[in-house]
Amino acid sequence: MKISGICGSLRKNSWNHILLKIVLNKLSKTKNIDTEIINISKFPLFNADIESVATPPDILDAKEKVKNSDLVIFSSPAYNSSYSGVMKNVVDWLSRAPQVLSGKNALVIGCTPGMSGTLLGYTNLNQLLFGLGMNVLSQPKILVSSVNKKINSDGDVLNENLEILIDKGVETILNKINI
Ligand SMILES: Cc1cc2nc3c(=O)[nH]c(=O)nc-3n(C[C@H](O)[C@H](O)[C@H](O)COP(=O)(O)O)c2cc1C
Repeated sequence: MKISGICGSLRKNSWNHILLKIVLNKLSKTKNIDTEIINISKFPLFNADIESVATPPDILDAKEKVKNSDLVIFSSPAYNSSYSGVMKNVVDWLSRAPQVLSGKNALVIGCTPGMSGTLLGYTNLNQLLFGLGMNVLSQPKILVSSVNKKINSDGDVLNENLEILIDKGVETILNKINI
C-alpha cells in the first residue's frame, strides 16, 4: 500500500507542505503505510515543445510514483480564491499520456494563514481531478484556515480541534481506501 502527496507550493517553509507531511506521517504511523511527497520542484512550465522532444525525467519519475500509489493527496494553497498555478502545472504534466490519473484515488487538502480558508480552491481542484477521471474522495475535508496559529514550522499541531480533525481524517482515509 502506498500513499503519495503532491504540494502545490514551492515555498521552502510552505504550510501546505507541512500539513501534507503531518497527514502522511500519521497515515504511515497508523497503518505502517509507505508514504512519500513527490518532488515537483523541477517541473518546467508545461510546453508542448518540451514534451515533443522528451518528457523531463522528474515528470516521468513523478508519473511512475503516481501510477504505483493507491491514493494521491494534493495539498494546495489558496491563490486568488482558487488553487495555485503550480498545482495546475503539475496536474497538466501528469495528465499527459500514458495515463496515470484516471481511476486513481485522490484527496484534496489545503491550508492558509488567511481566515477564509481554502474551500473555493478545494472545490476547483476537486473538479479538475474529477474531470480527469480520478476517484475524488469527498471526505475527509482537511481544510485549515489561520494555519499559522494552529501548527508550527516543525510540524507540531498546536490546536486541539485540528488534531482531532486530522486524526478522524486519517481514519476516514483508511476506511475509504479499504486498508
Ligand atoms: C498570488 C497569491 C494569491 C493568494 N490568494 C489567497 C486567497 O485567495 N486566500 C487566502 O486565504 N490566501 C491567499 N494567499 C495567501 C497564501 O494562501 C499564503 O501565502 C499561503 O501561506 C501560501 O501557501 P504555502 O504556505 O503553502 O506556500 C495568496 C498568496 C498569493 C501569493
